[in-house]
Amino acid sequence: MTTSWSNRMSDRVFGLKPSAIREILKVTQQPEVISFAGGLPAPELFPVERIQQATDEILQSDEATRALQYHPTEGHVGLRTWLVKRMRGRGIPCGLDNVLITSGSQQSLDLIGKVLISRDDVVAVERPTFLGMMQAWDVYGARYDGLRMDDDGVEPDDLERALKGGAKAVYIIPNFHNPTGITTSAARRRTLTEITDRYGVPVVEDDPYGQLRYEGDAVAAMAAFDAERLGIDPRSADGPVDRGNVLFLGSFSKELCPGLRVSWIVGPTPIINALVQAKQAADLHTSTLAQMIVARAVQDGFIDAHIQTLTGVYKQRRDLMLGYMQTHFPSSVSWTRPAGGLFIWVRLPEGTNATSLLDRCLEKKVAFVPGHPFFPDRAGENTFRLNFSNAQPAQIEVGITRIAEVLRRHL
Ligand SMILES: Cc1ncc(COP(=O)(O)O)c(C=O)c1O
Repeated sequence: MTTSWSNRMSDRVFGLKPSAIREILKVTQQPEVISFAGGLPAPELFPVERIQQATDEILQSDEATRALQYHPTEGHVGLRTWLVKRMRGRGIPCGLDNVLITSGSQQSLDLIGKVLISRDDVVAVERPTFLGMMQAWDVYGARYDGLRMDDDGVEPDDLERALKGGAKAVYIIPNFHNPTGITTSAARRRTLTEITDRYGVPVVEDDPYGQLRYEGDAVAAMAAFDAERLGIDPRSADGPVDRGNVLFLGSFSKELCPGLRVSWIVGPTPIINALVQAKQAADLHTSTLAQMIVARAVQDGFIDAHIQTLTGVYKQRRDLMLGYMQTHFPSSVSWTRPAGGLFIWVRLPEGTNATSLLDRCLEKKVAFVPGHPFFPDRAGENTFRLNFSNAQPAQIEVGITRIAEVLRRHL
C-alpha cells in the first residue's frame, strides 16, 4: 500500500497556507506582463563585478579551504565584527556575541518563531503587515492582533490595548513598511518602546529597507530608543549586551543582493543564544562562502557607495510612479508617498474589490498585488500594493497608464 502523504503530515503543516502572492507572481512572470507585483530589487544594479572580485580573491587565497568548510553557527567573525561597528554607529549597542548571521531575514523570522512562539500565542502586528512573517509564524500556531496605524506608524493606544490583552510579542517594520511604505516617526518609536518596556514584551524590529531612503533624515532604530531608555550607551558597551526588549533584523538582500542569502539578527545574549541553537538545528550555519563574499564586498566604503547608487535610481522610479499616478488616477483613489523602500500602497473607495480589478489589469498585461493577504483578518479588499524598484521608467509610464484606464472605467 502506497503512503497517503496528506494523512501522514504533522499538525504544523495544517498551519501552512500557499502564499497568495506567489500564486499571483506566477501569472506575472509572463514576459509581456508589466509587473509591479513582486518586491524584487533591480537586477541591473546588482554589484556583479564586486562579487566576482571578492569571490576570486577568496578562492585564490589561503582562505579558500576555510570558505568551503563547515563553520560555527554564529557566523563569520569578520562579518560580525563589521556589523557590530555598523550597528553601534546606528545607536544599537552590541558586542560580537549579540550578532547572529542568518540565511535571509525570512530565516530570522522562522528561528524567532521557533524560539518565541507557542501555539495560540498572540503577536501584536501592524495592520496590514508582512505576509512572509505570517507564513513563518503560522506554522508555530501564532495568532495576530492587528494594530491600527496612522501616518506615524502604530497607534500607541492600540498597542497598549493589545499588550493589556496579553500579546506576547510585537512585530514592527519601522522603515518604509512592507506593504504600506509608512515610516514610524521618531516620537512614535520612543513611545512604542516605552510601552513595550513597561510590559516587558519583546519587539521584533524588521528593517530590510532602512538604508533605502530617498528623502529626509534617517530615524534611529527602535533598538536604539530601547537602549537609550535602559541607559545602555552603544559606544561604550564593549562586552556582550544581556538585556533589552528589541531584536533587530537586518538583511543584505536589498542593500547588496538577495541571492547570497546573508542577513543578521542583533539582540540581548539570552535570546541570541537560544536562536543560535535553533539555527544549529535548522542548517548548522549560513553558507561560509557567501558570508566571506559579503564580508569582503562591503569593505572600504563600497556598501555605502552602492547604497547611494541604489537610492538614486529607486528615487527616480518612485517619483515617476507617483507622478503618473497623480496625473492619471481618479480622484477617489488615494495612496502613500513613501520616503524610501520599494512600495506604494493604494486605497480604493470602500466596497471596491482590488482582486477583481487585478483580473481586468491582467487582461491589459499589467499586475499589482491586492492588499487583503497582508491583513491578518483578510480585510483590506479595497487596497493594493505597487512596487517601483523592479520596473524600467518606460514600463512605469505604460503600466500606470493601463491601471489608470481600468480604474477610470470600473470605479
Ligand atoms: C519586511 C520584510 N522582512 C523580511 C523579508 C525577507 O528578506 P530576506 O529573507 O531576503 O532577507 C522581506 C522581503 O521582502 C520583507 O519585506
